[in-house]
Amino acid sequence: MPLLFRLLLVAASLAVSGVDPTSGAAPSAGASAYNASMCHTSFMCGAHDIHYPFYLSNESRVIDGVARSYCGYPGMAILCDATTTNATLRLAEGTNYTVLAIDYDNNTITLADADALAVNNDCPRPQHNVTIPPEAWLNFSSAGNSTISFFLDCNLTGAGDPPPPPNIVRINCTTGFGQGRLPSFLAPAQLGAQDAGWLFRACGEVYVAPVLSELLASPEYGPRLGSGGYGDVLRGGFRLSWDPSAGPCYECELSKGQCGYDQAGVFLGCLCPDGSVRDPDCGDQVHLAGQKDANRRKIAIGAALVLFLLLLVMSFLYIRKKRQYKMTYSSGSGLLKYSISGGTPRSRGSTDMDSGNVHHLQTHQFPYEELEEATGGFCDTRELGDGGFGTVYKGQLRDGRVVAVKRLYNNGCRQVEQFVNEAAILSRLRHPNLVTFYGCTSSRSRELLLVYEYVPNGTVADHLHGHRAAERALPWPLRLNIAVEAATALAYLHAIEPPVVHRDVKTNNILLDADFHVKVADFGLSRLLPPDGATHVSTTPQGTPGYVDPEYHRCYQLTDKSDVYSFGVVLAELISSKPAVDVTRDRDEINLAGMAVGRIQRSQVDQLVDIDLGFGTDEATSMAMTMVAELAFRCLQQSGEMRPPIREVLDVLKGIQKGGVKEGDEGERKKDGLPRVPCSPDTVHVSWESFSTTPSISQ
Ligand SMILES: *[C@@H]1O[C@H](CO)[C@@H](O)[C@H](O)[C@H]1NC(C)=O
Ligand SMILES: *[C@@H]1O[C@H](CO)[C@@H](O)[C@H](O)[C@H]1NC(C)=O
Ligand SMILES: *[C@@H]1O[C@H](CO)[C@@H](O)[C@H](O)[C@H]1NC(C)=O
Ligand SMILES: *[C@@H]1O[C@H](CO)[C@@H](O)[C@H](O)[C@H]1NC(C)=O
Ligand SMILES: *[C@@H]1O[C@H](CO)[C@@H](O)[C@H](O)[C@H]1NC(C)=O
Ligand SMILES: *[C@@H]1O[C@H](CO)[C@@H](O)[C@H](O)[C@H]1NC(C)=O
Ligand SMILES: *[C@@H]1O[C@H](CO)[C@@H](O)[C@H](O)[C@H]1NC(C)=O
Ligand SMILES: *[C@@H]1O[C@H](CO)[C@@H](O)[C@H](O)[C@H]1NC(C)=O
Ligand SMILES: *[C@@H]1O[C@H](CO)[C@@H](O)[C@H](O)[C@H]1NC(C)=O
Ligand SMILES: *[C@@H]1O[C@H](CO)[C@@H](O)[C@H](O)[C@H]1NC(C)=O
Repeated sequence: MPLLFRLLLVAASLAVSGVDPTSGAAPSAGASAYNASMCHTSFMCGAHDIHYPFYLSNESRVIDGVARSYCGYPGMAILCDATTTNATLRLAEGTNYTVLAIDYDNNTITLADADALAVNNDCPRPQHNVTIPPEAWLNFSSAGNSTISFFLDCNLTGAGDPPPPPNIVRINCTTGFGQGRLPSFLAPAQLGAQDAGWLFRACGEVYVAPVLSELLASPEYGPRLGSGGYGDVLRGGFRLSWDPSAGPCYECELSKGQCGYDQAGVFLGCLCPDGSVRDPDCGDQVHLAGQKDANRRKIAIGAALVLFLLLLVMSFLYIRKKRQYKMTYSSGSGLLKYSISGGTPRSRGSTDMDSGNVHHLQTHQFPYEELEEATGGFCDTRELGDGGFGTVYKGQLRDGRVVAVKRLYNNGCRQVEQFVNEAAILSRLRHPNLVTFYGCTSSRSRELLLVYEYVPNGTVADHLHGHRAAERALPWPLRLNIAVEAATALAYLHAIEPPVVHRDVKTNNILLDADFHVKVADFGLSRLLPPDGATHVSTTPQGTPGYVDPEYHRCYQLTDKSDVYSFGVVLAELISSKPAVDVTRDRDEINLAGMAVGRIQRSQVDQLVDIDLGFGTDEATSMAMTMVAELAFRCLQQSGEMRPPIREVLDVLKGIQKGGVKEGDEGERKKDGLPRVPCSPDTVHVSWESFSTTPSISQ
């Protein structure tokens, strides 16, 4: 009666967490590479208390050759100088900002340019704009922000140029500005477009520095900005803010955990007060543990006991029912296993939470009848395709949601296992580039059905060489973006604890939403990697011909590097628009992998790529495509060890994307096709539109 035993365990762990907050439930991730042991909870750096979501920059760790800052938010590493006890945040390469204050109540940090602080006289010469790297979760604070624009070394002798506008101030410091240099100016307020345009032409350098408006307007500095007052204003710093509720970390923090992220912003897990790492949050045990109120504890114990009794009754009923149905149900407790370990998320919306049903504590269960109705009785015309052991139908739920319903072929033992496996894995995983899982039917219902978010724009395979290829909807920049987003999803899967190997990466499983953003689908073949050192799972061969890691057939080992191999095939498809397998091709080129490796090796990239994408006609595109081909080549190495980890693949792709964007040539098509990808860092930006005749200092 193993099920009853598990139920007892659930009840026991609930009861325990209600009684003793410190004992908690066992951590789900075990001794993982990612834990809190190296993160200071709080650290005094000079006068500054550095704690979450900041962390000491020397406390990020190298995992898989990548420095991962896993104690807080990306880009929020503080360098603490042991001798000066100055705390420094490095925003961009070569620009240090000294921390003046951190306000954890208002979520703001006040920083000053270290160059300005280092200049003891009053006139620091600006040397750069303040740039927030796109990966850092920081924004310019909207409270009291202001800017000073600097126009350095302006040649005012050009014929026909008007005199400097009245609202700009001449900098009359001697150090750094006098001595044979052309005059320099600063503008404490926004300039009209006309003045700005003229100054941009006349002046050697233009910088915009964020400052605090209260200092800019102060009677102490305001009137003498040009003769050094501006230096004091710069040394007063500027404010950046972070927004916990905007990030994916919110749930984790609500449950009293702290998020770990790598520098690319990939979620690594939620560090819980008991030292365990969970995903995505610490779950209800911690909520209970955090409440010191004795009454609440009593309620918790009471609730646990009630739940326990309920579970007993339910399991009794369940066992009876199981006999009636005489169904093979070999691993039906898989879902519960995840709930016990705390690895499953609570449903985001309470409507998704079927709290009355204790059998599947986490996964929403749909009545079979509702799904039958939603899909028009699994009507052929609603069929979206076949994938991973089942047929997928489009349907509409009673609440209006359009969904994809996957109907498993039959209810054999293997399918049940597949089903339970997929449901449990899916409910743990949330990422913008993964298909959202809504729930399933009860494994005791007539058929096993999985319900996913419906992704409207078909698969990448459809667009590359399938029935939608004629639309030519995927120009090169969009393909590169698809590669980046798919790699992001895989990097997420490989980075969570315990890691998940997708096992069936292929263009048929990469779906596109209305904006052509990637949703990776079908975790049907996924198995959780054991967390304890072992990096492979041995199972019977699965996967799709043309994509399967050649090492897999040799040693029946499936690692994260197998996903990298399959992803290499995806990259080859993206550059060539050719299918992974095509029996009409030459014998050694039936597999696209073989074809790609051969041609790249012989430097015949031009004979592999889809010429219509701009290869050979556009230099930037040619270069980017060649670089992707080379990356695919590395991913398609016979030996898994030779292949880069997906993290590195992602970084290389992002680098290629950045390079390609800089060269910028793709015109409107890119603007349409490449939405919301942070390509360039946020920079302080002054709107030149509004003309202000009075400097703000005079108010
Ligand atoms: C945390 O990681 C360190 C180093 O990998 C390891 O020695 C330690 O046992 C881990 N602690 C926990 C609680 O997992
Ligand atoms: C990081 O730097 C701080 C301050 O310099 C120091 O106290 C701390 O021990 C360092 N941590 C590690 C892990 O080196
Ligand atoms: C930034 O600060 C670090 C540590 O104090 C120092 O090593 C580095 O040279 C500084 N960089 C610049 C550009 O000032
Ligand atoms: C920050 O929060 C405090 C209260 O904790 C408030 O008095 C103060 O005005 C806030 N500052 C800003 C800049 O919002
Ligand atoms: C440390 O900070 C102080 C102001 O807080 C500044 O005067 C000094 O120049 C800084 N030192 C370094 C090395 O940045
Ligand atoms: C920064 O501001 C932009 C626009 O206001 C917003 O979309 C973004 O979420 C903000 N980022 C953070 C980390 O708060
Ligand atoms: C200052 O805040 C305002 C209002 O939120 C915003 O429109 C403006 O862009 C901000 N300025 C800077 C330099 O961030
Ligand atoms: C300033 O501009 C004028 C006219 O364009 C030019 O003749 C002169 O050489 C410039 N002066 C300097 C110092 O660049
Ligand atoms: C600084 O920002 C201003 C305004 O956005 C821009 O015109 C200027 O070129 C920038 N300077 C540098 C060196 O990037
Ligand atoms: C700089 O200008 C201010 C007025 O704007 C004036 O009081 C001061 O004497 C000037 N300093 C020099 C060195 O010219």
